[in-house]
Amino acid sequence: MMLRAIGIRASYRDNVVLHGVDLDVAPGEFVGIIGSNGTGKTTLLKVLTGVKPTLDGTVELEGRNMRGLPRREIAAIMAVVPQSSFVPPLFTVEDVVSIGRYARREHRFQESPADRAAIEKAFVLTDTVRFRDRLISELSGGERQEVLIARAIAQEPKILILDEPTANLDVRHQMKILGLVRRLIGEKGLTALMVIHDLNLAARFCSRLVLLHEGTVLAKGTPEDVLTKQNLELAYGVTSSVERNAVLDALQVTVIDCLQKNTKES
Ligand SMILES: Nc1ncnc2c1ncn2[C@@H]1O[C@H](COP(=O)(O)OP(=O)(O)OP(=O)(O)O)[C@@H](O)[C@H]1O
Ligand SMILES: [Mg+2]
Repeated sequence: MMLRAIGIRASYRDNVVLHGVDLDVAPGEFVGIIGSNGTGKTTLLKVLTGVKPTLDGTVELEGRNMRGLPRREIAAIMAVVPQSSFVPPLFTVEDVVSIGRYARREHRFQESPADRAAIEKAFVLTDTVRFRDRLISELSGGERQEVLIARAIAQEPKILILDEPTANLDVRHQMKILGLVRRLIGEKGLTALMVIHDLNLAARFCSRLVLLHEGTVLAKGTPEDVLTKQNLELAYGVTSSVERNAVLDALQVTVIDCLQKNTKES
């Protein structure tokens, strides 16, 4: 396995938010984590990227326990595009994309030809070269998102981990970014794991989905296995219709309404 999590339990102080989550990501897969707000998706990514300690469970990166792996070794395998990212005000886009190389470098302050080539390639692949000399703080939310993806690609990871990469993007840029990830998987043997709220994009781009619900895995498998009306009722409290879109040959979810709950809350 590229990435494996076994029995992950995690909490914020005494509030346990992950209750024994298992997850496998094989090389070359594009796995989507879906689930309602506050259900533990970002927390799971923090555990998988070694940012958050667990109460129980282990994370293995290419078969090695991640605890104890030096940061630089992790950075040579895994790149992360976080959900919201603090951007230092005086950094240019060039600086930010260069940071992608920093974690991998042997001589921290010396850029090698391989570093330069990776940076240039990331600019081209993400089509962000026109932002190069702009300040990152002066880009729009969507432009900034693309630059953060360029930074991750410059790192030349084996696995790319993305938390809602399309959240700030318009429909065209959503296609561009997810299409790019899929192309890198096909051509460069990349593996990807992303959290995504858009169920139709998840169904269309991911080879496998994991549906989280209240800190446990409610369903996992192909989009067909996971995106059932019943699962969507349980996980999101909505009624829906799930059909196959013939043009895309992918499932298409249409949410109909919120489920009526037998409580006084509205
Ligand atoms: N830093 C924190 N301190 C305390 N509680 C937190 C913290 N971060 C998240 N939580 C809580 O942990 C639970 C899971 O949060 P998490 O961010 O993992 O959810 P999520 O599935 O990513 O949600 P969203 O779809 O809104 O991004 C939530 O109840 C949240 O309030
Ligand atoms: Mg989140």
